[in-house]
Amino acid sequence: MGSNYRGRPMKKARPRKPSAVKEKMQYNILFASPEVSPFAGTGGLGEVAGSLPKALKSIKSSDIDCRVIMPLYQSISDEYRKDMDFLGCAEIPIAWKHEYMGVFSLEYKGVTYYFIDNEYYFKRDGLYGYFDDCERFTYFSRAVIESLRIIDFVPDIIHANDWQTAMVPVFQNTIYHREFMETVFTIHNIEYQGHYGMDVLQNVLGLPEDKTYVVEYHGDVNLMKGAIESSNMVSTVSPSYANELKDPFYSFGLDHIIRRNEHKMRGILNGIDTRVYNPSTDPFIVSNYSYNHPEGKLPNKTELQKAAGLPVREDVPVMAVVSRLVPAKGMDLILETMDGILDGNDVQFILLGTGDGHYENWFRGLAERHPDKAAALIYFDNGMSHKVYAGSDIFIMPSRSEPCGLSQMIACRYGTVPVVRETGGLRDSIKDCTLGDGNGFLFGDFTSDAFYHAVMNALNRYHDKANWQKLVEHDLRMNFSWASQAKEYQKMYEDILTY
Ligand code: GLC
Repeated sequence: MGSNYRGRPMKKARPRKPSAVKEKMQYNILFASPEVSPFAGTGGLGEVAGSLPKALKSIKSSDIDCRVIMPLYQSISDEYRKDMDFLGCAEIPIAWKHEYMGVFSLEYKGVTYYFIDNEYYFKRDGLYGYFDDCERFTYFSRAVIESLRIIDFVPDIIHANDWQTAMVPVFQNTIYHREFMETVFTIHNIEYQGHYGMDVLQNVLGLPEDKTYVVEYHGDVNLMKGAIESSNMVSTVSPSYANELKDPFYSFGLDHIIRRNEHKMRGILNGIDTRVYNPSTDPFIVSNYSYNHPEGKLPNKTELQKAAGLPVREDVPVMAVVSRLVPAKGMDLILETMDGILDGNDVQFILLGTGDGHYENWFRGLAERHPDKAAALIYFDNGMSHKVYAGSDIFIMPSRSEPCGLSQMIACRYGTVPVVRETGGLRDSIKDCTLGDGNGFLFGDFTSDAFYHAVMNALNRYHDKANWQKLVEHDLRMNFSWASQAKEYQKMYEDILTY
């Protein structure tokens, strides 16, 4: 790790390795994310940003102060706003203009959160999908660094996440050069890169002319490429995905950049918030249960069947999908096989989620074709998702690619056995049980045949009652908490700081 971009020597960090063995290393992390649960989120990134910082603060062997920074979206409820403190405001540069930046803070469940306020950019419905998203998140990235003039916190590392914060390491390396401030960039999904035309260079990004090459890629602007090149360390959310990113099948055009930066790449599997996802205390489900009391799972199945409008039957296996309905999640494999699976087997199928219109319509059609076997819940509701995890028997996740995936871990936690494709984080968290001691069913090739066989394996095992119950109890015992995974982040931070 001698240089961080085209031979430019990487600046030396403050030496801070403790001299005495018992002394703890103390450092500050500012975790920048476009979404953070429970304030505002659309998926896995929000959940990670809402749980990893807490876990980092609980690590005993170091003294890590991890704080979180995000945009103050309109959708953030008064429940949180009423307790926020206004810390100050400033005008910050965005290309040729200056924009207002207000900074609020909130202490919530032991973590300090900062919110960047600008009504023009963030007082809108939803989080993303606007014509000026490049400008909105370039503004946010710049505000992350500019807010350091207002907040009373000096980060040793800014940890940026996904393309929306990609300009943080780029600005640090090209404009700010703040001393003793390192950067980590985590790729949660390489499919979304912040890919724009060259016009944004002058109109939005405002990089010095001799530095624009950092974000240029194949005649366009690619923010994620800039972040990978500029950060001291890059991570992604599972070891297998870190490997897959070198392959054009998975990289959406960035494999070359990943390979060139391989020396600073890490793959760290996500954890889940085991307090939020806890069948023994979950307030959303009708009956609480655990591996000591697995019988409590059954009333949840009955309730789910009722809610989905399916016949209430204990003996029929319920298969479920909770997902965004997009090609990357392997929806096509379900489309190709589900009619056949339902026709040929005594089984029920429940889908919860929204996404591409043609998938939504297809699932509605499936429910019409098989009124006693299939239900399509085309919406997303957090409480309902807990009911589906708890009430179903088999969880289906045939992703074409899956950086980490949290649902398969949540499913295990609720004793719902996953059927997954062997890719990315699915491969790192689920082991096949047909050959021995596993927690789910795997298939390798992205084909409907391979998927069909894995589903059939699961259905066959379901009817072997004693064996199935053993599998359910094994899954209920799985520990996908952040406790061990947060230590991998700790190690990465300390490798950077003591380099
Ligand atoms: C993205 C990925 C998902 C991952 C999540 C959190 O949503 O698609 O696989 O679990 O980020 O890192």
